[in-house]
Amino acid sequence: MIKVSPSILGVDFLNLAPQLEILKTAGADMIHIDVMDGNFVPNISLGMPVINSIKMHTTLPLDVHLMIDQPQRYIKDFAKAADILGFHYEAGSPVRQTLAEIRQLGCKSCLTIKPKTDVHEIFEFLELCDMVLVMSVEPGFGGQSFIMNSLDKLSALKIECENRNLSVDFEVDGGINSETAKLAVDAGATVLVAGNYIFNSGDIAKTVKHLKSL
Ligand code: DX5
Ligand code: ZN
Repeated sequence: MIKVSPSILGVDFLNLAPQLEILKTAGADMIHIDVMDGNFVPNISLGMPVINSIKMHTTLPLDVHLMIDQPQRYIKDFAKAADILGFHYEAGSPVRQTLAEIRQLGCKSCLTIKPKTDVHEIFEFLELCDMVLVMSVEPGFGGQSFIMNSLDKLSALKIECENRNLSVDFEVDGGINSETAKLAVDAGATVLVAGNYIFNSGDIAKTVKHLKSL
């Protein structure tokens, strides 16, 4: 079954606890947390203090998406709260070493690529990945439109992992709505991140259930 990872980037953080409860009841599989440093992406979001609070208020796994320069510097800190810890291939840390460190620290590892990155560049790291995150918008902001070339990347990853008998989740993030979610799932996505689509839908539970049923 498809897993859903709601992105809380646009949520009222002072009203987060009840929203987390609603997401859990709705059947969300994890919570997607976007960490932005104002360098790797032109936006600043949140860091460890907020993630620690989120952890205290939900039993759902935390899917942490680091959009920060040289992420290896902070892997130890984020691994204390994250269940899945992802960083960008383009962010300037040694990829193999950082993925291995994430696993050693007890988290699932996730390697993330931006829309302009050729997916073949990360094939050599797939053995060290529990999940690959294909960005379907330029990272930094919610509410953008889905970039269609992500679909080819998901298909290529799926075929490559099947050929090599690797069990890897394929997550897609950015511009997910009913239509793009279906395209992504058909292309091979197993985890859907959605922010605006879920929280602006008027019925969070119904929207999460719909995504899971694709
Ligand atoms: C963008 C973030 C996304 C974002 C998704 O850099 O990684 O997780 O919150 O938002 P939507 O679903 O609204 O495109
Ligand atoms: Zn994200």
